[in-house]
Amino acid sequence: MNSTRITLACALALGASFAHAQATGKLKIGLMLPATGTYASLGTAIENGFRLYVAEQGGKLAGRDVEFFKVDDESDPSKAVDNANKLVKRDNVDVLVGTVHSGVAMAMAKVAKENKTLLIVPNAGADAVTGPMCGPTIFRSSFSNWQPGYAMGEVMAKKGLKKVVTITWKYAAGDESVGGFKEAFEKGGGKVVKELALPFPNVEFQALLTEIAAARPDAVYTFFAGGGAVKFVRDYAAAGLKDKIPLYGAGFVTDGTLEAQGDAASGMFTTLHYADSLGTPRDNAFRLSYAKAYKLQPDVYAVQGYDAAQILAVGLNAVKGDVSKKAEFAAAVRKARIDSPRGPFTLSASHNPVQDIYLRQVGGKDNKYVSVASKALADPGRGCRMQ
Ligand code: PHB
Repeated sequence: MNSTRITLACALALGASFAHAQATGKLKIGLMLPATGTYASLGTAIENGFRLYVAEQGGKLAGRDVEFFKVDDESDPSKAVDNANKLVKRDNVDVLVGTVHSGVAMAMAKVAKENKTLLIVPNAGADAVTGPMCGPTIFRSSFSNWQPGYAMGEVMAKKGLKKVVTITWKYAAGDESVGGFKEAFEKGGGKVVKELALPFPNVEFQALLTEIAAARPDAVYTFFAGGGAVKFVRDYAAAGLKDKIPLYGAGFVTDGTLEAQGDAASGMFTTLHYADSLGTPRDNAFRLSYAKAYKLQPDVYAVQGYDAAQILAVGLNAVKGDVSKKAEFAAAVRKARIDSPRGPFTLSASHNPVQDIYLRQVGGKDNKYVSVASKALADPGRGCRMQ
């Protein structure tokens, strides 16, 4: 054998053993979630759900032990690229999982694309992530901001409501939730007469509540979540508006928050891809397992974290744990039917869940299932060109 041949043989052997190590060593998962701020409890529920699924698989995915690397993203878009790069470049993770805040998630999508890293979004609904920013390595286990908003627009138009004021935080999630709502509500004959907003994560609602009282609409549509949602719903009731102008919203406004909202939330109607009383064997088993593990009831965020792990497992099983096989990973996920506690779902061509959106009503400490507001609702995936 001449020396060129020997070098080539060595390189091939080295390459093969590297690939083998990649598929058999610990699977590095980068969790980028909020651990502080108004969305902190959402981050915890997502991580709990994700870890629960992994634990149910004996702590391994596709035969590989799992190792977690964590960053608190603080729901701060200005730190998002640096935070994502810590996981991708410093820790060399195999997959990024995150996050809650739409602005942060868009930065993660950019980093994931540039580095061809797998990304699974377990909450943030930024329409762009499965729209113009979509990509073969980017998947979402949650929803697009458009989805629950659109479903509620249909519900409220069918109820015969005509004049609605919207109120939200001024960033992608609020804007797009209101956008989806308005699209369906106005198509159904209603009119959004005023769009109110305040910067994220401000909770000084008083001046805006005064504007709502003065506008005297038939109803209000809102997007808030986490700690901000708790305060908004309480302030709305304290301002004397609860019994005068009914408050509707994307279901985040009452999910994981009812304990703290108490009576202020009672009777509220919201739309979301999960409810506390689905009563299916799949959801019952999940809720029991979650309650046993964490001494807590799950919410929509826990479900989305659990399903992010399920999506990862589907892809990894198809490539026998070898994350370098991105095309095969994606092909398997695209074909899959995810057996979610919310009900089974598939992913659209732009990798967003195609799912039933439920109408729920708050009763006691639960978001009780009322009906299916929108069956198998698919985000339109506007602007997505899957490369
Ligand atoms: C978002 O920023 O996309 C977002 C945050 C919290 C939610 C839902 C959406 O509950």
